Amino acid sequence: MKKIILDCDPGHDDMIAIMLAEASEEIELLGITTVAGNQAGEKTFTNTLKILTLMGEKDIPVARGFDKPIVRDLTVAPEIHGVSGLDGARLPEPDMPPSAISDMHAVDFIISTLLKENTSVSSGPAPGDEKIYLVPTGPLTNIAVALIKAPEIKKRIERIVLMGGAVYDSNVTPAAEFNIFVDPEAAEIVFKSGIPVTMVGLDVSNKSVFTFEDINHITAMRGRVSGIVGPLLHFFAHANYEIFRINGAPLHDPLTVAYLIDGTILTTKNLHVDIETNGEFTRGRTVADIYGVTGKKPNADVALKVDVDKFKKLVFDAIKKLDLRGL
Ligand code: RIB
Ligand code: CA
Repeated sequence: MKKIILDCDPGHDDMIAIMLAEASEEIELLGITTVAGNQAGEKTFTNTLKILTLMGEKDIPVARGFDKPIVRDLTVAPEIHGVSGLDGARLPEPDMPPSAISDMHAVDFIISTLLKENTSVSSGPAPGDEKIYLVPTGPLTNIAVALIKAPEIKKRIERIVLMGGAVYDSNVTPAAEFNIFVDPEAAEIVFKSGIPVTMVGLDVSNKSVFTFEDINHITAMRGRVSGIVGPLLHFFAHANYEIFRINGAPLHDPLTVAYLIDGTILTTKNLHVDIETNGEFTRGRTVADIYGVTGKKPNADVALKVDVDKFKKLVFDAIKKLDLRGL
């Protein structure tokens, strides 16, 4: 059982990441923190509450984070995720108990959760002693500020498994992937932190495409969750086809959780990755030293191959499981 904190900007693919974590026996979801990215902070926070309400989950704490990057103005993606950030179907209005909505800022929630879980005693590790995975699937603003505010949390983090960047691919500009582009300064802090990082980028996520046939398969499940997820993914797939001519929905974010569930789903290579923060045309580029020509010490395990069939089975099974909840 891996303990994780999911930091996200729902977002259609963030929604599937939340569902995968919720449905998996391998994952203990300690909490969800939200950040502005795909849409404004209020919307990504509200969307998270709606997703949890749809799943019938009332116990996972949610903490709202930053509404803008550390330095830059916010860039949102309505052309991909719509005005709401989850266009394509109507989700239930949030129905969460007050106890599930943290009164802490996401940064303080991350810090306190990491340190509180550490009940280290002199006589060896206590049950709460295992380290925690951070799984960011949006811009890295909350994670970076938490590392600055409380560097002591580094020893409590097993690994940061993030969706972001690319070695050979791009989306928001010809040079960059959206999450890194939105807050490159935050990404630089994370990649220079010395914490083990797995970079799940577009090189694998743009290959993890749920075709329109796959999406129809989900809709045909005709369950409480699948009946909403199908139309949402159809909207997301159509937007990706219109802009990138991708024939379906590239499910970027859930690949991070899938990798924690089954490490064979991704093949990674230990590389040095720098983040471009100054380039006129290259802002947010993850500059991966694939041949080691810089001589710099590798700082990330970069995903280069994906077992798409294994990934799809995990997602289909998770949605089916959530459909059966409460029946
Ligand atoms: O570039 C894809 C990433 O940006 C995904 O995390 C998507 O949800 C958006 O946040
Ligand atoms: Ca996201």
